[in-house]
Amino acid sequence: MSEQHPSVAAVSVPDQQNYDGLVFPLVLACQSPDATLAATTAWVASQRTALEEQLTQHGAILFRGFPLKTPHDFDAFISGFDYPNFAYKDSLSNAVRTNFTERVFSANEAPADVTIYLHHEMAQTPIYPSKLLFFCEQAAETGGATPLCRSDVLYEKLAERCPDFLRACEEKGLRYTNVMPSVDDPASGMGRSWQSTFRRETREDAEARMRELNYTWEWLDDGCLRATTPQLQAVREVAPGRKTFFNQLIAAFKGWKDTRNDPSKAIMHGDGSPLDRDAVILAAEIAEELTFDVPWQNGDVALVDNYIVMHARRSFTGKRKILASLVAAETCGVVS
Ligand code: FE2
Repeated sequence: MSEQHPSVAAVSVPDQQNYDGLVFPLVLACQSPDATLAATTAWVASQRTALEEQLTQHGAILFRGFPLKTPHDFDAFISGFDYPNFAYKDSLSNAVRTNFTERVFSANEAPADVTIYLHHEMAQTPIYPSKLLFFCEQAAETGGATPLCRSDVLYEKLAERCPDFLRACEEKGLRYTNVMPSVDDPASGMGRSWQSTFRRETREDAEARMRELNYTWEWLDDGCLRATTPQLQAVREVAPGRKTFFNQLIAAFKGWKDTRNDPSKAIMHGDGSPLDRDAVILAAEIAEELTFDVPWQNGDVALVDNYIVMHARRSFTGKRKILASLVAAETCGVVS
């Protein structure tokens, strides 16, 4: 006999936002205390189409109260969606991570006191996921929330408050520069080595890969690599008339800082011109005002549309275990 699907209801949480009558994020809570993992996964599978529609409308869904405890439980939950996996090893992400299963890995392992600023996942590279899933295996003692920001709402605010800057971003795109170490540096939020980033062991092979990706580069005396992306889009049209501020501008400008990197050199317009500093600071302030902090409870899963919603990480104390999984998408982010 097949198990019954758990009963699930949309619930409200403090500080939940509302845009045009749609809450952000949508919170779906399991109301069946005896729900099993198998029944939960079957429920996800049965609701795929509806969940997909809700995700596009709301931008993010928080699943709460389901019987998930381990990375493998999270993996089983994800399997219900039947999404194509985006493997971390295939990405050009600059974060250091650890894999638990083929599709589940640690979220950025940067130290607890490091703030990771708002960004669309991997929008600073030509290859990025369409969606992300986060799982709270263990909530931090204090802090450690995952801020989420509706990037379509941000786009509209920028159009009102700094239209010239937004137009420059939209028309010229952005290029990002970062310095990668020759050995993974887990002490940094952007410490992934160039060998791991490009999946190549020698300089010659890494150069060939960068040529394919239209990167430019410079080898530094200490073995590090300074790499600059091609011109990437800064704005994405997710539906007719619905645009998002799809980039890593805020994260790069505020947060790309470690012993190798200086955030003031991390980002420029696609034509090489500098960004309007004041406008970037204003954009970061507006984005911060728009954020909803996911108040993690153990077992929570957040499904985030990476084209519509930016995410970040607050600093924290205690042990915090947030795992992540990425969903594959098309690979075209280059402004022609
Ligand atoms: Fe991220």
